[in-house]
Amino acid sequence: QAVHLKDYAPVPVTVTHVDLTFRLDPQATRVLARLTCERRGPGDMVLDGEALRTIRVALDGAEIAPEIEGDRMILRDAPDAFVLETEVEIAPERNTELSGLYISGGMYCTQCEAEGFRRITWMLDRPDVMATYDVRIESDLPVLLSNGDEVAQGVWRDPWPKPTYLFALVAGDLVAEADTFTTSEGREVALNVWVRPGDEGRTSYAMDALKRSMAWDERVYGRAYDLSVFNIVAVDDFNMGAMENKGLNIFNSRYVLASPETATDADYANIERIVAHEYFHNWTGNRITCRDWFQLCLKEGLTVFRDQQFMQDMRSQAVQRIGDVMTLRARQFREDAGPLAHPVRPESFVEINNFYTATVYEKGAEVIGMLRRIVGAEGYDRAVALYFARHDGEACTVEDWLACFEEACDVDLAQFKLWYSQAGTPHVEVRDSFNDGLYRIDMKQVVPPTPGQPDKAPMAIPLAFGLLDTAGNEIRETEVHVMTQAEEHLTFEMAERPVLSMLRGFSGPVMLDHPMEDVDRLRLLAQDTDPFCRWEAGRRLAKERLIAAIGEDVALDADWLDAVAALATDATADPAFRALALALPSEDDLAGSLHEAGVVPDPDAIYAARRHAQMAMAERLSSAIPALRDACATAGQYDPRAEDAGKRALSATLLRLQTFLDGGAAARAAYDAADNMTDRMAAFACLLEAGDESVAARFESDWRHDRLVMDKWFAAQVSHAAPRDAVDVAKRLTAHSLFDPANPNRVRSVLGALTAANPAGFHAPDGRGYRFYADWLLRLDGMNPQLSARLSTAFETWRRYDADRQALISAQLDRIAATDGLSRDLSEMIGRIRG
Ligand code: ARG
Ligand code: ZN
Repeated sequence: QAVHLKDYAPVPVTVTHVDLTFRLDPQATRVLARLTCERRGPGDMVLDGEALRTIRVALDGAEIAPEIEGDRMILRDAPDAFVLETEVEIAPERNTELSGLYISGGMYCTQCEAEGFRRITWMLDRPDVMATYDVRIESDLPVLLSNGDEVAQGVWRDPWPKPTYLFALVAGDLVAEADTFTTSEGREVALNVWVRPGDEGRTSYAMDALKRSMAWDERVYGRAYDLSVFNIVAVDDFNMGAMENKGLNIFNSRYVLASPETATDADYANIERIVAHEYFHNWTGNRITCRDWFQLCLKEGLTVFRDQQFMQDMRSQAVQRIGDVMTLRARQFREDAGPLAHPVRPESFVEINNFYTATVYEKGAEVIGMLRRIVGAEGYDRAVALYFARHDGEACTVEDWLACFEEACDVDLAQFKLWYSQAGTPHVEVRDSFNDGLYRIDMKQVVPPTPGQPDKAPMAIPLAFGLLDTAGNEIRETEVHVMTQAEEHLTFEMAERPVLSMLRGFSGPVMLDHPMEDVDRLRLLAQDTDPFCRWEAGRRLAKERLIAAIGEDVALDADWLDAVAALATDATADPAFRALALALPSEDDLAGSLHEAGVVPDPDAIYAARRHAQMAMAERLSSAIPALRDACATAGQYDPRAEDAGKRALSATLLRLQTFLDGGAAARAAYDAADNMTDRMAAFACLLEAGDESVAARFESDWRHDRLVMDKWFAAQVSHAAPRDAVDVAKRLTAHSLFDPANPNRVRSVLGALTAANPAGFHAPDGRGYRFYADWLLRLDGMNPQLSARLSTAFETWRRYDADRQALISAQLDRIAATDGLSRDLSEMIGRIRG
């Protein structure tokens, strides 16, 4: 049942051109396909098809009786060149999996990555089969879209050979915001952002982000767009964030639609990043694609890295980097430390959709960042230019990518390549000492065992570091040491003991264990030149205190609170940075750290310790908060740019602290005064935490009509419920008339919020959170296996917890595993989680 990387073989017969006609109908859509096929070697042609009603198959015009076995059609003794015609019937309206052709909010749309095309028609549904496409859409609907350039109404031609997963079709009653872009090569490109009537007026930020992305890719990577039109479509029902279909990107509407009244600063930032991400795929993914799905990181890791670079250029480099590290640690380190750990390039899978993971995406991006650090910015540019020149139009492997670096930069990447094959987060232990004018740094690396990989070899880890004197002046600027052995040391002659600023910019995705005196950490927090290390120093200080306070009633020391206050009130520092530095490590982060240290985490005690620390911070800052919040006021109308967003973020952080002191008085005023959704949500969260009885009803009556805003309403109530109420709140909300299990965003807004934002609620000691959650996984699995499988990752940390909780979770996992008719997606996940 599992597919293995080592078994890769090219197809004996390929398809070079695809001609498709769609006769759209919700219950019975007819798909007529003409595949131009060519033999490349000996063997049978095996086509993929799933949930198709096959009506007719013909080879070179002569009808044949196809040999169909389950999801495969086998064509034996095919000639050297021929045309294969098929006619099938599919039912978009009954497609609740949201894979293939389905209907969302009255419009037809598609999602073909990874293996959805086979649910549309018979085809070699694999990324190394690249073909040109002609598509004809027959329907009365006014807007008919597909890939490439429009030849006539509803007729599209895509001249760029592409794999099936990049195919797309959209049909509906849609309206567009239109614009144009002229490429550096002089091509006039029509740009459209298509939405349902009623959503016009919320597309301008996505359009703006698109134009900036196009200009950025030309300027930074020398990549220009290659068709006469670029369409973006927003759909409400979507399993993931968005999809880079050639010339026709399809988006989860939450990553397109924004207005100041309905979207938060975080929404705007996500839109900017995801629009860029999908656009950047046009070169890293589409023009150069993946040979097979094991190479997914080749396009995703690289494209995430590119979207991170773009965001750093558009916004604050420091704040973006810290945010990206926070995401990596929250999702990828968590994944790497549990039963779902897998390499950036997995070696086998049962269901590929289960491998669109933080490891493939986010760690995949870190691997690109490390490469760039090792070969330098210019070397990176040379290698990437070679990659584009050499592999344009091809379906490639990680080896092809690395070979470009080895040739362009004259490096040997044999050891570096372990980043693609060894799972687990390396632990780097750093100890430093100073004796008689000699400063010595001892480093040790250990890569922990992960499922199927008990023993690991040392990796090539770029460690960027600098040295400060004890007064906080930098005495050695950042240099990069590439650690390659299990143990190494560095020595420096110095007059006095320096302070080590290690892992600057988070130069590698590792866990750093570097004990340090508080005074030195405080020094780094106040004065390091590297913003990541500044933030990290504050983070470590906070974490140590929180961990000490868990289960104990210890007072928080004045030194730390003074440092927190100094940062909060430092008007010279970027407000966005101050907001990040004032935020405490999350409950899940603390649980992971405790587990890492061999301590069984208690979710309630963690929750209480964080509240305790927030209360102490609030008291320390109490007299300063009103003036600090006034200083965060932004002038004029709401503007989503980073500068204003940073002020709002700091203001929200302070409002949160204030709520600990005034029971919600300031938050109530802020809610009433809010003229944008960012401020409104910040106040709403505070009021929910303060136990305000009426604010949820008021919010609901104001926003009932708005799908995306109501997602926030659902999520906030679960996230900010007291832990003992959280499961009941989630239950009540899943029974709400606006709860729709067919809409992934809505489902995530309740179930995702419970597990991600209210861990103490989810882990209720009597197991009611687990039971509730498992019930929903089973119910959703019958409709949308990708969604149930994704949500099941909430259980990946189960081995961290006490024996009682483990037994309760295990019982739910067993119950799910024993259920008849479980999807391949969910059964693979549950099997791996159980271990
Ligand atoms: N390639 C898309 C992106 O990252 C993700 C689509 C994945 N979809 C899926 N069903 N596995 O931008
Ligand atoms: Zn992507």
